[in-house]
Amino acid sequence: MKVCVNGRSVELTNATSTKAAYALRHELGLCDVRIGCGEGYCGACTVLVDGKPTTSCDLPLWALEDKNITTVRGLGSPERPHAVQSAFVEEQAGQCGYCLSGILVTSAALLDTGRPLTEGEIRAALDRHLCRCGAHGRMVKAVLRAQATLREQA
Ligand code: FES
Ligand code: FES
Repeated sequence: MKVCVNGRSVELTNATSTKAAYALRHELGLCDVRIGCGEGYCGACTVLVDGKPTTSCDLPLWALEDKNITTVRGLGSPERPHAVQSAFVEEQAGQCGYCLSGILVTSAALLDTGRPLTEGEIRAALDRHLCRCGAHGRMVKAVLRAQATLREQA
C-alpha cells in the first residue's frame, strides 16, 4: 500500500488492518510516532493526515492510503526547525518529552491556519493531549512564541 510520509512516497507491506502507529514505527522506523494509551485517548500518537491532527494508534493503515502523513520529524530538521519546534526548545516546554510529538504536530497544524490565536484557543486545541509531566503551561507559551515568530517572518 502506498503512502506519502514526510514528503516521501513509501510502500508499506503491513496488513491494511494494522494500526497506523505500529506500521509507521515498526515498518518505517519512525520512532518519533509515540504510543501511549494505544486506544485513542492520550494524543501521544497524533500525526497529521492531509494536515489534520489524527491519532494513529486507533487508525487502520488502510485509512492512510494515498494520504500525506506528517510526523514530528517531518515538520523540520535540527538545521532548519519549524518555528514551533524552536519555540518549544526556547521555552523548555517539555519534561520527559513523551507527549511532545503529538503536541508539536497539533500545534503546527493550528499555526498553519494563519489566523491569530488566543491563549484560550491554543489551550482548547491541546486539551485532548495528555501530558503526565504537567508541562502544558509552558507549551501554551511556546505556541504563542511560535505564532509571534511566524508573524515577524510574514
Ligand atoms: S497512543 Fe494514541 S491516543 Fe494514546
Ligand atoms: S513532557 Fe512528559 S508527558 Fe509531557
